[in-house]
Amino acid sequence: MASSAIQIGLTQDQVETKYKEYHKRINDALAGCFTKSTPETLYAPARYILEGKGKRIRPFLTLLAAESVCNSSDDALNAALGVEILHNFTLMHDDIMDQADLRHGRPTVHLKWDENAAILSGDMMIAFAYECALNTKTDRHAELVHILNDANITICEGQALDMELEQRAEATIADYLDMISKKTGRLISAALEAGGVVGNADALQLQALVTFGEKIGRAFQVQDDYLDIMADDGKSGKIPGGDVINGKKTYLLLRSIELTEGNERKLLQSIIANKGIEPERVPEIRAIFEQCGVLEEARQLINRDTEEALSAIDPLPFGEGRDHLKGFALKLMKRDF
Ligand code: IPE
Ligand code: IPE
Ligand code: MG
Ligand code: MG
Ligand code: MG
Repeated sequence: MASSAIQIGLTQDQVETKYKEYHKRINDALAGCFTKSTPETLYAPARYILEGKGKRIRPFLTLLAAESVCNSSDDALNAALGVEILHNFTLMHDDIMDQADLRHGRPTVHLKWDENAAILSGDMMIAFAYECALNTKTDRHAELVHILNDANITICEGQALDMELEQRAEATIADYLDMISKKTGRLISAALEAGGVVGNADALQLQALVTFGEKIGRAFQVQDDYLDIMADDGKSGKIPGGDVINGKKTYLLLRSIELTEGNERKLLQSIIANKGIEPERVPEIRAIFEQCGVLEEARQLINRDTEEALSAIDPLPFGEGRDHLKGFALKLMKRDF
């Protein structure tokens, strides 16, 4: 792929600076949410998960989407907060479903408190997210709420498919790609669509933003699966190899079964048959992934999706916002965090 600086007319530094600046803008605004002190077990978990080292990818995309259609993100901050709070609700419940012990390098909410607190706090965060959307300065509130609803329902579909896939003996790469477009892709595309609506985008502009989101969303989840087992120690903030320990059918696992034979293939298949593997064996699985070619294939898939995402938003009117969207997509493609 050509150098990002040439392709998008922004330097890497400009991309980084904007991300850092907006990351702070989003975090400052999030710190003003959930300020009620009681009931402690309801509000403290919401504050806790939002104080973690979240990357703020989705609200950043909401702000950039608004800038790419109307040259300003001033009115889009509340919508961006709604998207991020909805996302963090999904993480809180996802960690119960995945029996995950760590998020952002800290104990998950259901371990620090208990499952009931994580369920209830997450439920409250959904309602709070809709309030943020309704507090957004726009005359298109109904559309915003429809977008969040569609994203919310679609994530639930994706999470249900994820759980069903875990139980199934057979699953194809196509099943996996459909599942991740729902559990991950839709909220990313909805984040962009919401920003577009606040910026008063027309139907074609919204479609361009949604297509961009679908493509980077898929690349993002494949990279999430990759980092789950390949990230340098501690960098993912999750238990290394958590997906294979739990027998999750990820791109890496499904495709590497196709690429291997003999004992290696049997070992990989046993992860599915036994619905997981002992944590001590994670290095063996990592070594197979490194040797069988699946990592290169995952990289190609991510590169292809990102390239398609970049060209989808060419028609957007405001060059600077559009270039920052492209720059951020390229940054995500190479992320190790
Ligand atoms: C985690 O999303 C859930 C996935 C869809 C893979 P992020 O990796 O964006 O999580 P945060 O927001 O940075 O915590
Ligand atoms: C997350 O998928 C999708 C949602 C939270 C809806 P994962 O289960 O892979 O996310 P992480 O790895 O726990 O962040
Ligand atoms: Mg999950
Ligand atoms: Mg998970
Ligand atoms: Mg994951």
